[in-house]
Amino acid sequence: MIVKLDRWNPDKEAITSAVKILKSGGLVAFPTETVYGLGANGLDGKAVSSIYSAKGRPSDNPLILHFGSPEDVVNVATVDERAKKIMDLFWPGPLTLVLPVNENVPEEVTAGLGTVGVRMPSHPVALALLQACRFPVAAPSANASGRPSPTDAQTVAADLKERVHMILDGGPTDLGLESTVLDVTGDTPVLLRPGGFPLEALVELLGPIAMPKGELELKRSPGTRYRHYAPSLPMRIQFPSDPFPVEEGEKWAFVGMDHPSLESDRSILFDDLDAYGRGLFAAMRELERLPLDVIIAQWPGDSGVGLAIRDRLIRASGLS
Ligand code: TXA
Ligand code: MG
Repeated sequence: MIVKLDRWNPDKEAITSAVKILKSGGLVAFPTETVYGLGANGLDGKAVSSIYSAKGRPSDNPLILHFGSPEDVVNVATVDERAKKIMDLFWPGPLTLVLPVNENVPEEVTAGLGTVGVRMPSHPVALALLQACRFPVAAPSANASGRPSPTDAQTVAADLKERVHMILDGGPTDLGLESTVLDVTGDTPVLLRPGGFPLEALVELLGPIAMPKGELELKRSPGTRYRHYAPSLPMRIQFPSDPFPVEEGEKWAFVGMDHPSLESDRSILFDDLDAYGRGLFAAMRELERLPLDVIIAQWPGDSGVGLAIRDRLIRASGLS
């Protein structure tokens, strides 16, 4: 069931029914400023495991716990001075912190890693829901596993259908890319996933940050791992210094910021980098419905959300 809400003044009754569903072990999809999340009571292992089956998600991929207030994080994790400082400055917002977990959190959330991802989203509908719950809400992106993340309620419904008990519709999301995931369990923070929160602001506060993926360097041997964030059509990246990556006779669409140097069958062009990030996943889902051979995506610069766009393009095209 989709319930349409006024983003700035979400209906209290709808929020109360959503909390009831979560309390009784059900699944509620809700908007955040990044993408839509598929939520369950994060302290209820059985409810959390139903998230994995609804998405078809591998159970070794841990989930983020969402909070309505930074103070509640101490109930599930060790919060040191540095973590507290980051939360004070940057929450609510698109930044997930990985912290040492305590015994209150079921293994279904952490995949047994000994750590837990925590985040306080800034979307008013998410905050209304989370503040009405007495428990943290475990939520991955509300897409079928492997598909592009949903940036509106209709896409959630299309992917998850009757496997979700309620969908709170707060309109299209603001950023369109998932949160930045930062591991702060060691001396040097580690960027586990670039996302909607810019790396530059983290470096300014924290100093050097390690990147386990070799600075997201490209391994140009396709298909070594599974595709992720991927549309049903193949995707290729247009790198600025490479020949344009289409073959004679191919039907192709282009997504990016600048007009392609060849004439495409269809183009979705964004005004700037933020708009590219906001619209990328929706563009993949729109273009995959067309009778085409391939989607070509422009490789952006690495500042701001550029790093996150690069990461999603690498995965969607099977290059990582
Ligand atoms: O913006 C977002 O983060 C959205 C909204 C709904 O909050 N959620 C989201 O969740 O993107 P998901 O499950 O699709 O991605 C969570 C990412 C995964 O890459 C997962 O491996 C990582 O966070 N993660 C979660 N807990 C972790 C942990 N304890 N250690 C390392 N990585 C973790
Ligand atoms: Mg996801």
